[in-house]
Amino acid sequence: MHGSRYTPNSGIERWLDRRLPIIRFAQEHLSSYPTPRNLNIWYVFGGILTFCLGVQIITGIVLAMHYTPDSRLAFDSVESIMRDVNSGWLLRYVHANGASMFFLAVYIHMFRGLYYGSYKEPREIIWILGVVLYILMMATAFLGYTLPWGQMSFWGATVITNFFSAFDSLIPGFGTAIVTWLWGGFGVDNATLHRFFSLHYLLPFVIAAVVGLHIWALHVPGNNNPLGIDVKGPQDTLPFHPYYTVKDLFYLSCFMIVFAYFVFFSPNTLGHSINYAPANPLQTPEDIVPEWYFLPFYAILRSIPDKLMGVLALFGSLIVLVLVPWLDTSRVRSCRFRPLYKQFFWILLVDCVILGYCGSKPVDAMLLSTPVPLVWIARIGTAYYFLHFLIVMPIAGLIETPKPIPDSIAKSVLATTPAE
Ligand code: HEM
Repeated sequence: MHGSRYTPNSGIERWLDRRLPIIRFAQEHLSSYPTPRNLNIWYVFGGILTFCLGVQIITGIVLAMHYTPDSRLAFDSVESIMRDVNSGWLLRYVHANGASMFFLAVYIHMFRGLYYGSYKEPREIIWILGVVLYILMMATAFLGYTLPWGQMSFWGATVITNFFSAFDSLIPGFGTAIVTWLWGGFGVDNATLHRFFSLHYLLPFVIAAVVGLHIWALHVPGNNNPLGIDVKGPQDTLPFHPYYTVKDLFYLSCFMIVFAYFVFFSPNTLGHSINYAPANPLQTPEDIVPEWYFLPFYAILRSIPDKLMGVLALFGSLIVLVLVPWLDTSRVRSCRFRPLYKQFFWILLVDCVILGYCGSKPVDAMLLSTPVPLVWIARIGTAYYFLHFLIVMPIAGLIETPKPIPDSIAKSVLATTPAE
């Protein structure tokens, strides 16, 4: 796509370039990669996500050296990591809080994409690969949460795998057969823990491969930008290095301060204390609540009384994201020029927060809260989530009159920069 400006400087570089042009590749895709000159803070999260993936893989590999995926030993092996292994507590807290930080970053990254219309033509594949990454992240986080074999690990695994039994109402026995197959037996047990561990180790590498595709797909059309307009020429771009390497590193440092706060000062705030009790198949905890990043989906699931419909709504809420590039009918990409849709964007964000709140409440509170039972708020929230994508998005694009769009990135940037 972009002409190569790399010239090998030494004999070794020339030799390597003819056989494996890896330096040329790094030069074109990292160092001199032409990047729109107006990228703002919300564009640093892709890099932060890549960092989070690296942290999870490195800490995970070392944790796995000390962890035992056996239902009789798993809980104690985690306690031994916390108490006996050198810096084991640090490894575990970084890994556990790292998952939360990863999701925090991915939510910002996704809403950024929605706000600036980064999913629109020609970036549909970047978006779809993003949704695949998100689903893979959810699967990985769910599998990992099972591994310490605490009460919430065990019961969370039981509840989530049981979703599939809902298919019994379509084809009798089909759902149960899936659940038994997933469990590797007739209950969540040793076989389940073994396969969950194996898959939890595998998936991050699948994620890494899909990230490669995601960035490859990004580097074909190039980045979108806050104005949502196309790059018209070299005056609109800057080389990635040093401009964006420095900016990304600065914001990565800020992000690491938040990360470090949780690891060192509040390592269990985002988790559940009951997971420090060993798994007991004979005692169901009072509330089975997933980690914070799953709560909006948990609310969608529980807002619908029929089990099958609830499960379908849950899957539907993810599938609808894949369709976003085609549901948005607007001519312009960025919400900066979309006065009508911009308001709905913020409503969607608040809706997801409200759904998350509803998902965090125990079932009793959902049904009995006054004046409006929370379950009804969750239902309205669920309805809005689907309406937003299926109705608001297509219609807003058709009826809205966008604001005038700048001619080019350079003109817009220079218009707001004081003359030198
Ligand atoms: C493991 C998770 C992910 C990683 C490591 C990752 C990485 C990246 C990176 C490095 C970029 C370029 C820098 C930036 O624009 O921030 C990017 C861009 C993008 N990502 Fe992701 N991403 C992930 C997940 C997702 C998800 C879940 C979505 C949406 C569902 C998504 C949608 C996009 C889009 C649309 C762009 C292009 C943005 C633009 O040019 O305006 N990504 N991603």
